[in-house]
Amino acid sequence: MKEFIAGLPKCELHVHIEGTLEPELKFALALRNGLSLPYASVAQMRDAYAFDDLPSFLKVYYEGMAVLRTEPDFYDLGMAYLRRAAAQNVRYAEIFVDPQAHTSRGVPFDLVIRGLRRALMDGYDQLGVRAQLIMCFLRDFQAEYAMATLLESLPYREWIVGVGLDSDEKGNPPAKFAAVYARARREGYLLTMHCDVDQDDSAEHIRQALEDIGVDRIDHGVNVLEDQRLVELVLARGVGLTCCPISNGYVTDSMHAEGIRKLMDLGVRVTINSDDPAYFGGYVQENLEAIQDALQLTADELVRLERNAFEIAWLPQHLKDAYLSELDAYTSR
Ligand code: ADE
Ligand code: ZN
Repeated sequence: MKEFIAGLPKCELHVHIEGTLEPELKFALALRNGLSLPYASVAQMRDAYAFDDLPSFLKVYYEGMAVLRTEPDFYDLGMAYLRRAAAQNVRYAEIFVDPQAHTSRGVPFDLVIRGLRRALMDGYDQLGVRAQLIMCFLRDFQAEYAMATLLESLPYREWIVGVGLDSDEKGNPPAKFAAVYARARREGYLLTMHCDVDQDDSAEHIRQALEDIGVDRIDHGVNVLEDQRLVELVLARGVGLTCCPISNGYVTDSMHAEGIRKLMDLGVRVTINSDDPAYFGGYVQENLEAIQDALQLTADELVRLERNAFEIAWLPQHLKDAYLSELDAYTSR
């Protein structure tokens, strides 16, 4: 099964580029930028990755990205992820970026987006991995800052496929960003947002995302199971959920494998993703292995998960069809 998973053509829809910053690259960038890190070694840095909920993870995540300063830093970060993705047979990825995590510490928006854009172009040319950017707003900052970031993104509209919402969910409901999302929709962006697992008011946040904002997709979203009406809404609209089992095991008390099983059985378009692989210790392949192991998934069920991902990807139909044909060719082989 491990071999089958390794060869499976994959689609990753939930990965934060800043969450792919491996300790080795952190040290290299610190050196290049003349910064000192409070760790003597890669091993010591990894030992400090002790988190058991969303806020404790986010603290380490934001501290870690302080080494990202220049356009080449973002290029190198993007290329490092795409090399990993290529090695795991990821054929297409939608990659989150948190511009405000950089602009808030004085790094210009332009430089972040240009570095990543250049990586995405080279990643496609050199590695054959297609990828697009999704710009996330940080929900623990004010809505006005999100709106300013949205406006700042407009000259780069062709380089960003959609918007998302991430960071600390406590006290920061989707409704806080209703005006930002309405404007993003008018500008032609596709819409997703995190409804992280087991947060305060998770089900109410999912309701707001679906009914009040009208998102195209939900990141995580397993708590939709708490409300049958919302499950029906997700099914009726074909809204996909981007689940991240290994991440769930760090920010909550479990992988929520049974919830993922239930969603699959209900016919919800659930997908398996990596979230912040450099911190949680698993890229998409390891996440697929973890959920296969927990649920004893069959080959057909694993294919179903990848099929879901290509179907809900933000790609034109002819490209989705080409990837789905690749998936079919792999399974018939
Ligand atoms: N930012 C990066 N990873 C995140 C996650 N899992 N939830 C919320 N915000 C994030
Ligand atoms: Zn995430």
